[in-house]
Amino acid sequence: MLTLACLSLSGGQGKTTTAVLLGKRLAASGHPVLVIDADPQSNLTTFLGHDVEANAPTLLEVFRGSVALEDAIYPTTSENLFLIPADDGLDAVQDYLASSGVGAMLLRKRLAPAQDSFAIAVVDCPPQRSQICKSVIGASDRILVPCEATVKGYGSLVRTLDAIAELKDMGASEAELLGVIPFRDRWVGMNQSQESRACIEEMRREVGPDRVLPSIRESERYKQAISKGLTLEALGFPDLEYPFQVLEQRLSTLTVTAQS
Ligand SMILES: Nc1ncnc2c1ncn2[C@@H]1O[C@H](COP(=O)(O)OP(=O)(O)OP(=O)(O)O)[C@@H](O)[C@H]1O
Ligand SMILES: [Mg+2]
Repeated sequence: MLTLACLSLSGGQGKTTTAVLLGKRLAASGHPVLVIDADPQSNLTTFLGHDVEANAPTLLEVFRGSVALEDAIYPTTSENLFLIPADDGLDAVQDYLASSGVGAMLLRKRLAPAQDSFAIAVVDCPPQRSQICKSVIGASDRILVPCEATVKGYGSLVRTLDAIAELKDMGASEAELLGVIPFRDRWVGMNQSQESRACIEEMRREVGPDRVLPSIRESERYKQAISKGLTLEALGFPDLEYPFQVLEQRLSTLTVTAQS
């Protein structure tokens, strides 16, 4: 199992959108996919239409090791797509991780029993530089950084790269940057907005041109696809699926290696 984090240390950068649409695409291609909601806001859980029942195991219990991992993994309405959900109770894990002394190592250890059951785990992160984020970075093989094609988005990229570098420097992570996805790239007809173009150029300078993936354009269609539980292709907009198509290609060699 390859563990991929969607991480970007500001709100509204497209982490959950990317996790849902990528997870669905990979699952629709026949890969067994585990998506993990590591954000107490629990938008991923909501977007996948999952209701957390009282006392049902979530990522909180997985972190604490108080349930068997398989008891916190739930099927979704999409074939091949499984979820470890969250609710706002996940906030309680911050103190637990801080006091454990091995917080950055813990999620990797807790997910180990699922290694042979899934091709990929896609983890949706909270927007703050928190103990949860550290543990997700520690558990990840690759990190995908969605960031708005704005000055705020560029700032989020810089903070995120800094957080990853800190964990690597401590020897707590071997994660590599899979890529940066510019989010809400604004176009009017054939013209890209000046701000989008300038910010994406800055992103290329920061991480190298090969690491900046095709952008997610500003469009209501992505929200519609998520609210209807469909892929963009199924909604009738195959062109908008392009960023996820490219991501799937980049991941294909990695997931084959991870499964073999
Ligand atoms: N292509 C798009 N164009 C414009 N808005 C979009 C697009 N895709 C998603 N959105 C909206 O942008 C907002 C932010 O997206 P998303 O929730 O994925 O970001 P996030 O990084 O997960 O945010 P948070 O840090 O709060 O968890 C959401 O309201 C979402 O519906
Ligand atoms: Mg989110």
